[in-house]
Amino acid sequence: MSLADQLIARIRREGPISVGDYMTACLHDPDEGYYATRPRLGAAGDFITAPHVSQMFGELLGLWAVAVWDALGRPPRVRLVEMGPGDGTLMSDVWRACRASPAFAAAQETWLVETSEPLRAAQTARLGEAGVQWARALAGIPVDAPIILLANELLDCLPVHQAVFTKEGWRERRVGVDAWGALAFTLGEVPPNDLGDGAPGEVREWSPALEDLGREVGATVAKAGGAALFIDYGREAAGPGDTLQALRRHAKEGPLDHPGVADLTAHADFPAFLGAARQAGAHTTAISAQGDFLRSLGIGLRAERLTAAHPDQAAVIARQVQRLIAPDQMGNLFKVAAIHAPGLTPPGLLPSERA
Ligand SMILES: C[S@@+](CC[C@H](N)C(=O)[O-])C[C@H]1O[C@@H](n2cnc3c(N)ncnc32)[C@H](O)[C@@H]1O
Repeated sequence: MSLADQLIARIRREGPISVGDYMTACLHDPDEGYYATRPRLGAAGDFITAPHVSQMFGELLGLWAVAVWDALGRPPRVRLVEMGPGDGTLMSDVWRACRASPAFAAAQETWLVETSEPLRAAQTARLGEAGVQWARALAGIPVDAPIILLANELLDCLPVHQAVFTKEGWRERRVGVDAWGALAFTLGEVPPNDLGDGAPGEVREWSPALEDLGREVGATVAKAGGAALFIDYGREAAGPGDTLQALRRHAKEGPLDHPGVADLTAHADFPAFLGAARQAGAHTTAISAQGDFLRSLGIGLRAERLTAAHPDQAAVIARQVQRLIAPDQMGNLFKVAAIHAPGLTPPGLLPSERA
């Protein structure tokens, strides 16, 4: 039975479900969820991420990891962790940059945190099994050495709940079944959290899963030492907006159109995520734009070197740089922030006024 039919049967049995439960089923249902069964990353798939735009993205993150290790006083053992590593492209580029520092390459132990079996197989094919350990959650990684964690486009996969401001005030948005037997948005009870005032039709989102992860990363970094870097498209300030989005074969479609077949995301609420990490004892940086972050890590210089080595690729490399940093492409939409242990200043980012 398709996931749409299973969800329709469940809703007829139990009543409308929250947007968060709908997202969880679409992404992680063991038999029909997108990541559990048919994740398709890259040009031939459903969506492109920064590591698929250019190798420079992962290489600069690798240099960031080495610089954090330097700032930590070059500990003899450090855990290099990627959460949500996709098909392993990012980590393979990170490793290439890390080879420039043989001491770091020797000190690091690579861990990948992945819930998707097909993607774990893709990571094994790209990276091999020898130099990698896998965990299904951050809690599976020991905290007896500092951690340097990277995560690109992970937070946007975490389920969000939505509420709509109506004449009767805030009502949680739910997924139900309409008179024609199709999935449709409907309104439920008053949401559990205080959303303050709203304008008619305004949509607000919140994500308990995102805040749980913020607390978990904050507690881990505070205990183990080190830093965790998160890059995602998202909000830098709390605010209204319906950001639930489905992508299939690089085209947007309605979030209820093809459950489990399309990728489903929502903008990451960076202030809520970082606030949860601070509550758990970590410090956080300010939120930067991806373009500013990559420029401060030296994407211009890396592009020059790459162009000198491959002059026939000059135009391609220039286009890739623009895609990653131009304000009207990924440069502003994507945000970057780090959660870090007290006393550390992660490179390329500004300290938070609230840290
Ligand atoms: C959009 S892909 C990003 C892949 C890669 N970071 C990149 O930039 O190409 C999202 C990744 O997060 C993983 N993921 C989704 N939900 C997760 C969760 N709750 N815990 C850990 N990984 C998760 C997916 O399986 C996938 O590897």
